Amino acid sequence: MPELAYLNGEFMAIEEAMVPVEDRGLQFGDSLYEVVRLYGGEPFRLGPHLDRMRRGAEVIGMDLAAAGDLDEIMQELALRSNLDTAFLYLQVTRGVCPRNHLIPEDLDPTVIATARKLEAIPEEKYSRGSVAFTRPDLRWARRDVKATTLLPNIMSRSEAIKRGGYDAVHYEEDGTITEGSVSNFFCVIDGVIRTHPANERILSGISRATVLECAEDLDIPYRESPFSIDELMEDATEAFFSDTYSEVMPVTHVDGEGIGDGAPGPIAQRLRAAFRDVVRRETGSA
Ligand code: PDD
Repeated sequence: MPELAYLNGEFMAIEEAMVPVEDRGLQFGDSLYEVVRLYGGEPFRLGPHLDRMRRGAEVIGMDLAAAGDLDEIMQELALRSNLDTAFLYLQVTRGVCPRNHLIPEDLDPTVIATARKLEAIPEEKYSRGSVAFTRPDLRWARRDVKATTLLPNIMSRSEAIKRGGYDAVHYEEDGTITEGSVSNFFCVIDGVIRTHPANERILSGISRATVLECAEDLDIPYRESPFSIDELMEDATEAFFSDTYSEVMPVTHVDGEGIGDGAPGPIAQRLRAAFRDVVRRETGSA
């Protein structure tokens, strides 16, 4: 089944989708994006993804209404590509004009979307767990806005992957852990799940919200309050990432040191099972 692109009103092969060199997304990273997972061809929580993009558009003053009916575009892309395990990438840039730092008014946004197959992470990877490496969080101070300016994230993630990790764990100057480069990060201290509050310092992940819903359903206590690298290394009995690709990925080691007993923790495993139940319930597949 075809991997497909959508560009400004038309569906085409991905190689055929081209944007002009003066697109502001290309020149300034003046654009927003979303990554939505397809399960059995059904988008998971498309509505919340688009709501998040709308909130980001308000922050950066982008007229997202001019981008058309994004829900319809994404549904149509899912339908036409007819992919099973896949993801939809959506990017809306402010549009095309001669390079100018001044944000122009009345530009037509560029709307790009692609549907790509997703290599599902092997089950064995979840049961073994993953490792992570800490890196300073160098992205901008409005990480709640899912902007395509991702240079710090691609650098820290590449380094983490080269060292055999699943992702980097980002921290601020005072040692507070924020999130991963493509994920949110959690630990468990004294039986309580901890994760950074969903404020301007992190991206409020759709998977993160799903994980917290699952914790609520399973009666596992959680606190959205910041924690430090020291607390993670000294007090945490388990840790895990959440994101659209992995759902819930247990972390056994950070910077080479074991978290808890250095094996995937029971809470992470229960949350992953519950997450998959939610996916099954909402998409009919998982
Ligand atoms: N990234 N934090 C950051 C910095 C992210 O880039 C992402 C997702 C998340 C998790 O969000 P969600 O649960 O909605 O996937 C948290 C996507 C997948 C990406 O950039 O490819």
